[in-house]
Amino acid sequence: MTTPEPADRTLSRASLADGDPTRWFDQLYTAAEQGDAVVPWTRGEPNADLVAWAGAHPGDGRRALVVGSAHGDDPELLAGAGWAVTAFDVAPTAVTAARARFPESTVDYVVADLLKPPGEWRHAFDLVVEIINIQAMPRDFRTTAIASVAGFLAPGGTLLVSEVAEESTDVATWQGPPWPFSRAEIELVAQDGVTVTSLETIRDGSRYWATFTR
Ligand SMILES: C[S@@+](CC[C@H](N)C(=O)[O-])C[C@H]1O[C@@H](n2cnc3c(N)ncnc32)[C@H](O)[C@@H]1O
Repeated sequence: MTTPEPADRTLSRASLADGDPTRWFDQLYTAAEQGDAVVPWTRGEPNADLVAWAGAHPGDGRRALVVGSAHGDDPELLAGAGWAVTAFDVAPTAVTAARARFPESTVDYVVADLLKPPGEWRHAFDLVVEIINIQAMPRDFRTTAIASVAGFLAPGGTLLVSEVAEESTDVATWQGPPWPFSRAEIELVAQDGVTVTSLETIRDGSRYWATFTR
């Protein structure tokens, strides 16, 4: 007997075959709410690397933008650390779930697409957090997505980028999603006035953790 393929594989394959890099995210969140799927990245708690970073970087009311906010754990962490947080996701079901999960939240949860972000977000955020979202779209969309995250950053701000390190994978047999990043691709975030502050691997070399400023 063969094990059935997880829903994230079947839904992403159909979405990508239609040339749509993001449709499957909302379908997956919806199926999970109905008990028919598992969202593999759902942890029910904030990213541990971001917890460590936020502990040393209080927001003091400055503006933060969280990309791919999912069920809201990372935005809520940053709001608790004093950041004025806007958080967005392309999946309306995820945004609705985050608002319902944190009804007293100060976070502004928004449905938006990293590939076509609102123009008023350009150079508007003192902190931008991009953790394993760009890698969830095929490489054809990487240039546009990277330009968006770099574009959100205000002068003097900090952009955090964390993605799976391609160098830790077996590239020959790997099948996305996700599509990991090489070091050179992480460095591409330094564009249009944005510069690298730090670039390291964490979690035994399996992920990049990079910071940038403008
Ligand atoms: C792999 S999950 C990561 C979620 C979260 N950042 C984390 O670290 O657990 C990718 C998330 O990004 C969202 N997403 C994917 N493409 C997006 C896009 N183009 N614009 C905004 N959100 C997107 C998905 O709906 C999903 O919630």
